[in-house]
Amino acid sequence: MRPVGKAASAAATVRIARLGERGDGVGRLDGRPVYVAGALPGELVRVGPGRKRGDGIAAELVELIEPAPDRRPAPCRHFSTCGGCALQHLAPEAYRAWKRERLTAALARAGLQPADQAPLVSIDPASRRRVELVARRQSGRVRLGFHERASHRIVDLAECRIMVPPLLALLPPLRAALAAVLPEGGEADLLATASDTGIDLLIRAGFPPGLEARQALTDLAGPAGIARISWQEPGQPPEPLLLLRRPAVAFAGVPVELPPGAFLQASAAAEAALVAAALAGLPRRGRVADLYAGCGTFSLAIAVSGAAERVAVHAVEGDAAAQGALLAAARRAGLADRVTGERRDLAASPPTSAELARYDAVLLDPPRGGGPAVAAALAGSRVRRVVAVSCNPASFARDARTLVEGGFALGRVTPVDQFVWSPHLELVAEFSR
Ligand SMILES: C[S@@+](CC[C@H](N)C(=O)[O-])C[C@H]1O[C@@H](n2cnc3c(N)ncnc32)[C@H](O)[C@@H]1O
Repeated sequence: MRPVGKAASAAATVRIARLGERGDGVGRLDGRPVYVAGALPGELVRVGPGRKRGDGIAAELVELIEPAPDRRPAPCRHFSTCGGCALQHLAPEAYRAWKRERLTAALARAGLQPADQAPLVSIDPASRRRVELVARRQSGRVRLGFHERASHRIVDLAECRIMVPPLLALLPPLRAALAAVLPEGGEADLLATASDTGIDLLIRAGFPPGLEARQALTDLAGPAGIARISWQEPGQPPEPLLLLRRPAVAFAGVPVELPPGAFLQASAAAEAALVAAALAGLPRRGRVADLYAGCGTFSLAIAVSGAAERVAVHAVEGDAAAQGALLAAARRAGLADRVTGERRDLAASPPTSAELARYDAVLLDPPRGGGPAVAAALAGSRVRRVVAVSCNPASFARDARTLVEGGFALGRVTPVDQFVWSPHLELVAEFSR
């Protein structure tokens, strides 16, 4: 740890005032913010030497002098080191209030006041069906898990409170198989998705799989409930190594075959909450554009829910494989007359006003950075109804500001706690004019 400044180079005592963006306790030291992972508002803590972080310093919690009344024992043994969760040690009501406050504060910073902020939709912790793990082999031993907080070290997970049971059960046999997959000192990123037909595992590594690796992964697959294993080297498309069943999930009852690495909402329960909130903000008849449609989470739900009253969805997505999966699923389900699609880079080529004039409503669900070009296009269009889904209150607030300046009113906003115990927050927002 690199010491910064005189006061930060030695242990110091800090009163924590609030929780910061990453879920750290934030106090002040020498007139600068000090970020203390694991500390809670109101606590008096002793911290170790700090290292520079943004406008302040990050320091380690060394001693809890006065604990907060809201402090609770963290359920997971890895909590103090693992970077996967930030807030297992906070009482549930205070935790929920903090999540709600993240949305309120982001909106307030952008000068926005929604007509209605729905209560936070809480999601069961052990519901993550899609996890990104990292594995490294050192001295013959494989470590498999998440990165430690603010570190490249890996927490070798013996338990995890956020994964669905099939992913948790995969860890020990996968760790054993990786001993034959990774060379000494070798590292891989793993994306594991518990689909309806079994686990879809994508291994990303800077080297090709050898014969021994292929055999170890083949031996792993059946007993571990794996449907498919793919391998991806940098700059290359994923190569399927083994396919026992096609990984699939159902959106609104329509089975969709997932391409390796394609986006999927991380929890089925959160997906259901996001879809319900989105459908509540959309008309049940007419033409809807689903921008950043992925494999069809919202497109298929809109098409199916509107069945009785005629609705047509146009799904726009940049990823060819996701787009293909969506349209193939719609065809197989007999929905081809209601779901059309287009592969398009929406950042480089946002919809024109003439294109937007075809739709009664537009749904957008951009990646973390938001969709500023799409928001600007909508602001300048004659579209009357927009539903925005977002995994980042800050980029959402910026794009929402653009919409409001274009004449939209911000209606109901529904926060959904998809990434339980992390600082992340999902939301669905309705706009109309
Ligand atoms: C947050 S995901 C949402 C996907 C889908 N709505 C869902 O809920 O499953 C964002 C999607 O935007 C796509 N995407 C990212 N950048 C894009 C761009 N510039 N143009 C079009 N699509 C893009 C990604 O491939 C991904 O499928």
